[in-house]
Amino acid sequence: MSGDLGLFWGQLFRKPDQVVALAPSSRALAEEMVATLDPRRGPVIELGAGTGRITRAILARGFAPDQVHAVEMNPAFCDNLRTRFAGLNVHCLSAADVGGLALRGAQAVVSGLPLLSMPLALQHAILAGSFAHLDPGAPFIQFTYGPRPPVRAELRASLGLTWTKSAKIWGNLPPARVYRFCQPDRRPME
Ligand SMILES: C[S@@+](CC[C@H](N)C(=O)[O-])C[C@H]1O[C@@H](n2cnc3c(N)ncnc32)[C@H](O)[C@@H]1O
Repeated sequence: MSGDLGLFWGQLFRKPDQVVALAPSSRALAEEMVATLDPRRGPVIELGAGTGRITRAILARGFAPDQVHAVEMNPAFCDNLRTRFAGLNVHCLSAADVGGLALRGAQAVVSGLPLLSMPLALQHAILAGSFAHLDPGAPFIQFTYGPRPPVRAELRASLGLTWTKSAKIWGNLPPARVYRFCQPDRRPME
């Protein structure tokens, strides 16, 4: 655990614009992020896995490591994830390319990305690529420290997103909320 902190802060110092957090997510936040996941309902995609706080919480719900696809662009974090979680699918690439992952039937995308600090085009690529893997009603799950939804208003509108938000999680530094965004079913009725 203290090794995780050293790695996290080392990368925060080197790449502050990518890590964008003072500390890894707390156990309380990680547990809220994964609270609705069920290993019987298919694989999970995790974006911005970092040192694996949320990854660990996903696995603790009973997922086999090969049911989890962790997307992380920082090679030092990727090496650490591969060492810590044998069998995990670690994709060392930008979340902008998540739509190209070869997998079927994901039940959710769980994101620890600093989404709000990203340019709109990058946010759009990440959201559109994520929803390409999700059936209508399946969630894109994202935490945020601020008072507003962590997906920009114009993107929520253009992707037709609805959402719910959790109570504030005080046991995190800083306190955070978890949002679950979904696309409604727009298929014509038969
Ligand atoms: C706030 S940290 C969260 C780490 C971890 N999920 C947690 O909750 O403790 C953000 C993570 O997103 C990663 N990241 C930032 N931009 C990314 C991108 N475009 N694609 C993939 N990962 C990215 C960073 O390298 C970092 O690991």
